Amino acid sequence: MNPSIDKNRLFQSIEDLGGIGGYLDERTGLRGVNRLALTDADAEGRRYVVATMKSLGLDVTVDRIGNLFGRRAGRDAKLRPVMMGSHVDSVPTAGKFDGCLGVLGALEVVRTLDAAKVTTRRPIVVAAFTDEEGSRFGTDMVGSAVASGRLLLEQAYALRDRKGCVFRDELERIGFLGNAKVPIEPPHAYVECHIEQGPILRASGFDIGVVTSVQAISWREVTISGKSGHAGATPIGLRADAGLAASRLNVKLREMATSGRYGKEMRATMGAIAHEPGLVNIVPGRATLTVDLRNPDDAMMKKAEADLLATFDEISKSDHVEIAWRQTARTPVVPFHSKIQALVAEAAAVRGLRHEKIASGAGQDAQEFAPICPSGMVFIPGEYDGVSHNPREYSTPEQCANGINVLLDVALRLADEEGGP
Ligand code: GLV
Ligand code: MN
Ligand code: MN
Repeated sequence: MNPSIDKNRLFQSIEDLGGIGGYLDERTGLRGVNRLALTDADAEGRRYVVATMKSLGLDVTVDRIGNLFGRRAGRDAKLRPVMMGSHVDSVPTAGKFDGCLGVLGALEVVRTLDAAKVTTRRPIVVAAFTDEEGSRFGTDMVGSAVASGRLLLEQAYALRDRKGCVFRDELERIGFLGNAKVPIEPPHAYVECHIEQGPILRASGFDIGVVTSVQAISWREVTISGKSGHAGATPIGLRADAGLAASRLNVKLREMATSGRYGKEMRATMGAIAHEPGLVNIVPGRATLTVDLRNPDDAMMKKAEADLLATFDEISKSDHVEIAWRQTARTPVVPFHSKIQALVAEAAAVRGLRHEKIASGAGQDAQEFAPICPSGMVFIPGEYDGVSHNPREYSTPEQCANGINVLLDVALRLADEEGGP
């Protein structure tokens, strides 16, 4: 039997990192986390991770997109490592678990292996990837996508936030513009533990989710331009109200999601919207908004995207507005490797944990590794309907420990695997 991780030590590390970028939500009285990518709080979170890596004797490197890697030597230094990772950047209204569980859990695996004096054939690398969330610069999984070669470094560097701050400048400003080369050498395998961020495992009483895939994700930034005018004096018939057009689009998104035309699992969200000039007595001349589409079927996603563009045309005509858009993120359905799924299921069974296959609703760093090496994920349930991207996000110490014990088991199996470089 493999050693087990220290549940309290793991949970304390989640609390400790969760205190960095912590804030009090005045409305709910809850404590949340705001470590938006490449802010000072993100830098402080990164420094915590680097210090922990160093305290465990890991060999730390930072690559050119700011990803952090901590390497534990294996018996054969020539072999490719097994990588465990996730992210410690957050949405501005986060809890303590999204991404952090995967990074801190991987560090807890290393701590546990050290304490039990376990050596592995292959090296083990703990990774914390830059800007998984995409909330600030509009594109998600930036660090892992550059590491795996899907996204070009120069494209990532050129991203800008809403204030016009440039990704590369911000990375340099916070002191994490590293020099290790990207894309990285593909690891032997990649495995990540993450909270489910949804209600399924908790509601059905499963301890562990064997993650089969990540659904397709399509993000757009949309600008609707109409005609601004006096709210009292402009007759309704003479208006080109960008705000009204945005509202019509939002209602249409919900209709798309519930229509059944794109399968039962279609999701569509207008997460951000800003009217200009955004004042009580002025017809909005411009609306800037985002559209997030998700679907577990690539063909359905393509159909939904085509219909979205047709909807833009319809609304332009009906509301006398111009609609411009740009795609800020787009990933297809990503299946995880059957071998890793089997290892996760087996590890859960050996530890007496109830497990079930599940697809990821959220985007994940692991999906960026799936095209370059056998990759997979372990999900754990969350309380309160698995709410996430919210200060109420919570998984119990037991739930977290279950996931990280399975992560340890899977990583050990992969790290002792014969064959291959
Ligand atoms: C990342 O958390 C996403 O799926 O939006
Ligand atoms: Mn995450
Ligand atoms: Mn997230």
